[in-house]
Amino acid sequence: MYAITGITGKVGGAVASQLLAAGLPVRAVVRDAVRAKAWAERGCEIATARMEDAASLSAAFDGATGVFILPPSDFDPEPGFPEARAVIEAVSMAILKARPAKVVCLSTIGAQAGEANLLTQRTLMEAALRELPIPVTFLRPGWFMENAAWDVAPARDHGVIASFLYPLDKPVPMVATADVGRVAATLLRQTWRGVRIVELEGPQRVCPNELASAFALVLNRPVRAEIVERQTWETLFRSQGMRHPLPRMRMLDGFNQGWIDFEGHPDGIIHGEVELEAVLRELVSSAI
Ligand SMILES: NC(=O)c1ccc[n+]([C@@H]2O[C@H](COP(=O)([O-])OP(=O)(O)OC[C@H]3O[C@@H](n4cnc5c(N)ncnc54)[C@H](OP(=O)(O)O)[C@@H]3O)[C@@H](O)[C@H]2O)c1
Repeated sequence: MYAITGITGKVGGAVASQLLAAGLPVRAVVRDAVRAKAWAERGCEIATARMEDAASLSAAFDGATGVFILPPSDFDPEPGFPEARAVIEAVSMAILKARPAKVVCLSTIGAQAGEANLLTQRTLMEAALRELPIPVTFLRPGWFMENAAWDVAPARDHGVIASFLYPLDKPVPMVATADVGRVAATLLRQTWRGVRIVELEGPQRVCPNELASAFALVLNRPVRAEIVERQTWETLFRSQGMRHPLPRMRMLDGFNQGWIDFEGHPDGIIHGEVELEAVLRELVSSAI
């Protein structure tokens, strides 16, 4: 039995679909039982748990061969990352109590970075889980291609995408969430000892200009990328409702300055199969 958190989202859903397709038993860990219906209909066991609640999580992980941990995204964390720390504590306690045979935890490219930024939330998660007496794999994917969902309307309606990543011709490791889920499911089925780090990107790197060109192809209209100047970020993010924009700004700095990157040798990075164009076609059709 594989217990999958985040199953109602993109990556968790892809992990579960892969396991079910292989005929393996899946326990859907959801925070809202109403959202579990589709997974129950596909034959999953259902467990209700929040990622901040050790008791419900340990019940959800009980008896599992493998557990997939999807830490919730928090783009606007309080100073010191108390929300992420609460999740880390609950997940660690639940794993210690339930003692699943193995754990795959979704982390991120750049989790090893020494400078504080939004991804420090995953640095902290990795540091805690690597201390547990259970085999754990940290899957560190690149920038999700699905982040381009934000760009669909401006590309379609105005022919411009706003880029926080620059220079516009600098290739960025990007990957489709379908590939992240597929690789996570493969990792979950493997047997290993101790701590593993697996880094993952798509078939090729994508620079912002290429993202714009791919939108142009899919939308059949000219699309160009335009840099959002660094000095405007804080005001912009605050105007969008963020209260603590600095960690997100430092994450973007990390990508642009190169201190957020894969840690291992390039030959060790796994490459996914899903092309950017396929992801953009999906995003554009679901936005209509
Ligand atoms: N975006 C990127 O470029 C990127 C790159 C590398 C790694 N990542 C990592 O990818 C993850 C996001 O994956 P995704 O895109 O698949 O996310 P998603 O589609 O937004 O789904 C998030 C899932 O987490 C569940 N969830 C959220 N908060 C929860 C809580 N407090 N308790 C229980 N469940 C909770 C959601 O449940 P509901 O359906 O109930 O909301 C949903 O199933 C994050 O860990 C992020 O750090 C992202």
